[in-house]
Amino acid sequence: MTRASGAAASPGPKRLIALTGIGQLLTLADGPSGARGGAAQGALGLRENAAVLIADDRIRWVGARDGLEAAVEATRDPEGAGDVMVEVHDCRGRAVLPGLVDSHTHLVWGGDRRDELELRLGGADYEAIFAAGGGILSSVRQTRALSEDDLHRAALARALRMRACGTTTFEIKSGYGLDLETELRQLRVARRLATSDGLRVKTTCLAAHALPAEHRGSADGRARFLAEVCETILPAVVAEGLADYCDVFCDRGAFTPEESRQVLGRARALGLELRLHANELGSTGGARLAAELGAASADHLLYLDDDERAALRDAGVVATLLPGTSLVLGKPYADGRALIEAGVPVAVASDCNPGSCALESLALVLALACYGCRLSPAEAICAATHNAAASLGLAGEVGQIAPGAAADLLILATDDYRDLVYHAGSPLIAAVFQGGRRVA
Ligand code: NIG
Ligand code: FE
Repeated sequence: MTRASGAAASPGPKRLIALTGIGQLLTLADGPSGARGGAAQGALGLRENAAVLIADDRIRWVGARDGLEAAVEATRDPEGAGDVMVEVHDCRGRAVLPGLVDSHTHLVWGGDRRDELELRLGGADYEAIFAAGGGILSSVRQTRALSEDDLHRAALARALRMRACGTTTFEIKSGYGLDLETELRQLRVARRLATSDGLRVKTTCLAAHALPAEHRGSADGRARFLAEVCETILPAVVAEGLADYCDVFCDRGAFTPEESRQVLGRARALGLELRLHANELGSTGGARLAAELGAASADHLLYLDDDERAALRDAGVVATLLPGTSLVLGKPYADGRALIEAGVPVAVASDCNPGSCALESLALVLALACYGCRLSPAEAICAATHNAAASLGLAGEVGQIAPGAAADLLILATDDYRDLVYHAGSPLIAAVFQGGRRVA
């Protein structure tokens, strides 16, 4: 239904979209404004038989259907003049929720590692492949070989598939360059996905992802590489405005807590916020470092004890779980239940990368967070919307359906959000809106 009314004196909003007949509306708008831990993580702000009004790229109003006409009238200028066009989508009882927020991806890379997938399925070990010069180092070789346009083409294709699966906000890390030129190229591609392709993106410099081949095999190689990251790469990234965050792979076979502290300290002095790959391969001090530095997020967290959970909670660090990686690598799942019971706000993200997890559907990964990490469906939805947004400094902007938030939302092909877990992997995303436009 389209309705046009009003005189031509002054223009009203460019256009309004009304979603009516929503069976379950998951607003995520009821709890604390920051990241939510404990019982607050399970509060979805559920409204039944609700309607939503979108004006331009924002949520304008949320309420009961019989308040919609008044909400439309309230969009007119004070003299009541101006044309108002309302496009009405009847959701016919289906569920509506915020667009998903994928707060941990590595989605700009060259080539692929399908050969390693088969090796690992045949019994080869992920860390052993890496130690032998494959793994991350294979992706570094393939990424260095691609131009910015070729990297952009590959990343955009991936991002659009991810968006068709429900993701409307992406955190994107570099880390397959490990040299100045390629790190900058990866981050420029990530920024371009926002500026020319209409995706919502936060970027992270992960130059300290692995020690590159050219610095291996010499006594001072590690120190020289860390100096290059701190004195050359990070300053150049910041000078070009290419990163919002800095991350380090602080784990066995990658960087120690001391080395990570050096890089993160420099990043913070340059004005970047911090995230950290921590406790994925072992209990190597990354989670403690994230708490000590007050990082926005500590990610992976497969190996974690009570003291570490308490430290994360007390420091206000979001625990970002990546259960797709546990599935693909055949590793244990992070104990999400224990984190929630300890009051740590939990986010769930895809980790989409060429090696340890190339899954693109965050909707599927949030189901894995239930089956593997023991979150409830409601907690997992909060983890992949509001809490992920909070970890990216975007609370209230995305991850909620509330007046003033960006109009990024999903209409499901079912009347019950729990089907995302119950029927995990089925095509349940009926429509994706980004910035008030239907994009999938
Ligand atoms: O988050 N753990 C470190 N980095 C990525 C994997 C990178 C790769 O294998 O290419 C991760 O799992
Ligand atoms: Fe990762």
